[in-house]
Amino acid sequence: MKKRSAIFLFLFYAIFTLNAQDWSSIFAKLSEASLTPISNQEALPYAFDALEPYIDARTMELHYSKHHAAYTTNMNNTAKESETAHLSLFEVFNNMSKYPVGLRNNGGGYYNHLIFWKMMKPAGGDKPQGKLMDALINEFGSYDAFAEKFSDAAAKRFGSGWAWLSLDAEGKLFVSSTPNQDNPMMDVSDKRGIPILGIDVWEHAYYLKYQNRRLEYIKNFWNVINWDEVSRRYEEALHALEKE
Ligand SMILES: [Fe+2]
Repeated sequence: MKKRSAIFLFLFYAIFTLNAQDWSSIFAKLSEASLTPISNQEALPYAFDALEPYIDARTMELHYSKHHAAYTTNMNNTAKESETAHLSLFEVFNNMSKYPVGLRNNGGGYYNHLIFWKMMKPAGGDKPQGKLMDALINEFGSYDAFAEKFSDAAAKRFGSGWAWLSLDAEGKLFVSSTPNQDNPMMDVSDKRGIPILGIDVWEHAYYLKYQNRRLEYIKNFWNVINWDEVSRRYEEALHALEKE
């Protein structure tokens, strides 16, 4: 191996290692850091029909009682089988590539839905306020430009997955999308960060009401966003990212 290639390889691994360590200490500061792969499903913060007419009661019931419940049970079983029960869920995410794919799918499924329920509320919508609104305008040019980018990421996710608004390691907001039950906290994610808003674009999230009309589901999602919770997550993520 040529000297220059060897130096490049060394730097690549040094940066990768530092990055993983950095994310580990950042994730540890988040309030959800105590979550483990052995966890119970939390109660839904509202009734199944609370998000009508945008998300119908039957979809919410199946999504929470069947899909999220199954991810939770399967995560617990996979954690026991893979002897990862003693780890925090975020440690698992930070080293996701080293663990069984079952833990990736079900651990992601457990966590993504846990935060998704809280990111919505009855009579939500409106627009974010204060610091988060300023940051969105600063990063994307306008609130509408952000909304278009987020909706576009959700619409273009091929097959099943999620679209996210997250903070990167520098505290900058970015929009991304992940396949299946991956999320930006995982080391397998193309761009890593702390998610503050997400939309589930698996068909199980909308098919009963919208059938193949994913765009209509995405458009209506804006009516149920809990911006108080998204702002809270934004502030918490910023705090975790503060350099000491
Ligand atoms: Fe889902």
